[in-house]
Amino acid sequence: MPKIVPKPIHVGIIMDGNGRWARSKKLSTTSGHEAGIKTVRLIVEESIRHSIASLTLYAFSTENWQRPKSEILGIGKLLIQAIKDQVPELKEEGVKINFFGQYKKFGSHALKMIKFAEDDTNIKKPKLILNIALGYGGRSDIVSAVNKIINSKQTKKITESSFFSYLDAPVRELDLMIRTGGDKRISNFLLYQLAYTELLFVETLWPNFSQTEYASCLNKFIRTKRSFGKRI
Ligand code: IPE
Ligand code: IPE
Ligand code: MG
Repeated sequence: MPKIVPKPIHVGIIMDGNGRWARSKKLSTTSGHEAGIKTVRLIVEESIRHSIASLTLYAFSTENWQRPKSEILGIGKLLIQAIKDQVPELKEEGVKINFFGQYKKFGSHALKMIKFAEDDTNIKKPKLILNIALGYGGRSDIVSAVNKIINSKQTKKITESSFFSYLDAPVRELDLMIRTGGDKRISNFLLYQLAYTELLFVETLWPNFSQTEYASCLNKFIRTKRSFGKRI
């Protein structure tokens, strides 16, 4: 059994590689996303086991709206099914689910299910907060926060800390960000929140990412010296 991380941390994951996984198996792209959802479940379970406080998953970016309609439709359907299948169990396990981003275009059924998932898991003392970025882009989040500040006409000085509250993403700094699929980029994920995050890039395609590999990422993180610019 891998070592358990002792303290709660905020982990973000760019879940990349579903398309390549499907192609390598001569399956449809949607089957790749379906396999990716199975990995989500495994990683949620492992996060609870490691007492991770918050897990923020990048499920769909603003840029992903440019993908074929059929793929987007497939993702919407999988999302609805996953909520139906998994929310009761996740709630039982103490998982609180939040979605954020511009996900309206997934349609009214998806919106209804997202609201159901959030309302139904609105537990007081969750074991894990699971944030799902859907139709999210870091840059537009920052720009819309700036516009909110301008429009509010408020005169109080904005601080680095208070700026978070104007962002749509309901999350603070990430301690660790993992990207699967081999590419070393952020792809417009949580730009403001990633300022001092430890970044880990792994080759494994998301559907093949295992609990063991995730646990080894967490262990790598706790062995990392974080000095935040100071001489320590
Ligand atoms: C990530 O996997 C999931 C989404 C962006 C929705 P991809 O679909 O980007 O997989 P690759 O990068 O094509 O393999
Ligand atoms: C990033 O993956 C977005 C998600 C995982 C949701 P993409 O496959 O869309 O990003 P690029 O095209 O490699 O930058
Ligand atoms: Mg990709």
